[in-house]
Amino acid sequence: IDNILTDTHGRHHNYLRISLSERCNLRCQYCMPPEGVPLSPPSHLLTNDEIIRLVNLFVKHGVNKVRLTGGEPLLRPDLVSLVKSISESIQFSRDRNGVADCDGSKGLVGMTTNGISLSRHVRHLVDAGLTGVNISLDTLRDDRFVEITRRKGLDKVMRAIQDSIDVFRDRYGDVRVGKNGGSRVKINCVVMKGFNDDELVDFVNMANDEFKGDVDMRFIEWMPFNDNGWNRSRFVSYKDMMTMISTHSDSPLQLERIGDGPNDTTKWWKVHSREIKAVRSARIGFITSMSEHFCASCNRLRITADGKIKVCLFGSNSKEVSLRDIMRQANRRMTDGIEESDEHELSRVIHASVQKKSFSLGGHGNPENIAKAA
Ligand code: GTP
Ligand code: 5AD
Ligand code: SF4
Repeated sequence: IDNILTDTHGRHHNYLRISLSERCNLRCQYCMPPEGVPLSPPSHLLTNDEIIRLVNLFVKHGVNKVRLTGGEPLLRPDLVSLVKSISESIQFSRDRNGVADCDGSKGLVGMTTNGISLSRHVRHLVDAGLTGVNISLDTLRDDRFVEITRRKGLDKVMRAIQDSIDVFRDRYGDVRVGKNGGSRVKINCVVMKGFNDDELVDFVNMANDEFKGDVDMRFIEWMPFNDNGWNRSRFVSYKDMMTMISTHSDSPLQLERIGDGPNDTTKWWKVHSREIKAVRSARIGFITSMSEHFCASCNRLRITADGKIKVCLFGSNSKEVSLRDIMRQANRRMTDGIEESDEHELSRVIHASVQKKSFSLGGHGNPENIAKAA
């Protein structure tokens, strides 16, 4: 591998998150206003060819895990062919490093979606090389789903979870990777006080009973950004979540800590019911972005839908550099007949951005500062 993407804190970056669309078919309160976010003109968005070109370049620099995000990635037209090309590119690292693994990063092409239109697409995507899917779901109650997302669709998301389990099982024989390994289907639930913090045990039971332990259930600490009204009074920490689950009175649950992957953002547990020992109990995880940030092992880089490189989730938007502009200008320079390696220029800019990556919480130090800066 030439030129691994290592920053000044010694972190190797092998995980690339690519936003495929700024648009979303939901309007989650913690993410965007009712009218949606301002959209870039379509010509400003990366084309599939540009995305593939960037993925090939990042793979050369050691990236072996790509996650497709949004907005909502399923709103991207021509997603299946894009997944196929990305998967082919990642295949090189898979060959180099061994078999694809859902938690290690030996060649993963994942997608994070709200699940609304996933049922329709999941089989084609998995056939094209998608190796895992993370589905966002913050409540199991119809009325609350409408309240948080400002749209209907809980039944569609639930169906998408089961359909994904079925499709991965058909394709790989099991939805889990290895014995006791991670599931290819994860549920992401952002926990907020007074909204869904009374549903944690329902989620655990759903993962164990309704989905028979086939999904990984992750509870996420609510993070401040986009003026989303973050404040400590509605924040629920990892510790609080653990207490809520382990002391729940109706059906006491037993928690058993299990291991995490090297760059995992998640603290993993198994939860067993004391009464019925589930045949297969789900892994339950906690993403502790705020109370115990994992910046020391951060291996992530991002590309925005309009082609900027973003080295930290909490980094300032104004400081991002456009890889799209380099690709488009370089193409023009090539047609003018001037010899210039645009790949070389892209690599230089990517390395320079990685060198500027800050440490804890994007250099903000604490959540209140992020909320203020948003
Ligand atoms: P896996 O590859 O399955 O581990 O997925 P992931 O957790 O990397 O990605 P996903 O899109 O499912 O994100 C889930 C949650 O992880 C988000 O809600 C964030 O809270 C958190 N997260 C994702 N990326 C970052 C990051 O770069 N920094 C921080 N602090 N949190 C992140
Ligand atoms: N805090 C924590 N997680 C968030 N997500 C979106 N906004 C926030 C936030 N403010 C989650 C989504 C999705 C994942 C990509 O990020 O629910 O699961
Ligand atoms: Fe990585 Fe920045 Fe997220 Fe920390 S806050 S884990 S450095 S992206």
